[in-house]
Amino acid sequence: MDKPLPQPAPCHATDAWTVLPAWAPIPGLGTIAINTFVLRGREPMLVDTGPAVLGDHFMQGLRSVVDPADLRWIWLSHTDPDHIGNLARVLAEAPHAKVLSTFLGAAKMEMLGCDMSRVQLLEPDKVFEAGGHRLHPLRPPYYDAPESLGFFDETARVMYAVDSFGAVLPEPAHDLSEVRLATLSEGMATWSSIDAPWLARSNGTLLARTLAGIGKLDPSVLLSAHLPLAREAAPMLSQLLAAIFARGNPDPLDADELAAALAPIGQAA
Ligand SMILES: [Fe+2]
Ligand SMILES: [Fe+2]
Repeated sequence: MDKPLPQPAPCHATDAWTVLPAWAPIPGLGTIAINTFVLRGREPMLVDTGPAVLGDHFMQGLRSVVDPADLRWIWLSHTDPDHIGNLARVLAEAPHAKVLSTFLGAAKMEMLGCDMSRVQLLEPDKVFEAGGHRLHPLRPPYYDAPESLGFFDETARVMYAVDSFGAVLPEPAHDLSEVRLATLSEGMATWSSIDAPWLARSNGTLLARTLAGIGKLDPSVLLSAHLPLAREAAPMLSQLLAAIFARGNPDPLDADELAAALAPIGQAA
């Protein structure tokens, strides 16, 4: 069993945005960030709630950044356990917070037995305003749950890319600038093959177009749930991911691979 990782304290990404970082081991491969985020200001917003297994660390970090009673919004990107794990704990301390979710995300929350009285649906084609920040909903370039919804904060020039741009790393890093390019590239290829194996069957040209769009938006900070804090790095990260997708990850579970492997047996029969 891997020994528990030391968990870092919250750090400011911009004047308005704070990262609540956490790390989890991936046995045999390394470690992965599981970040959540707080938008401070007039209408404080929490983005995702982390995994239940790191709940005490998460709640401590959250309380050090904002009084949960002041939270107005909780942006729930999707309903995976590493994003929704502490929702009930937060809601118990945040009586004024509404939970923002997509239609499909809300349906999944209902099936999970969540308190639906606080849920407000996000409209994917409408800007959401929180405390003067204009958040444009964005579908991440890749994802592991179809309800996944990130955003581009036009006001702070901050993008939340949900699970995409994540990287399995040999050890935790405070900032992306501490990670060597080769390590980052290998870690992003590993994470994307774990989190979105369907990428092996996807259209690389369309993905490259999406990634080029992110490069053009050029957020000053790219927030990913599974990557250290990335400042002024969106074009580089987009190009790196496009190169990884162009190269393609083999999928050993693909029917085409199986048909090729079984073909000699069929011929012999
Ligand atoms: Fe996910
Ligand atoms: Fe995730």
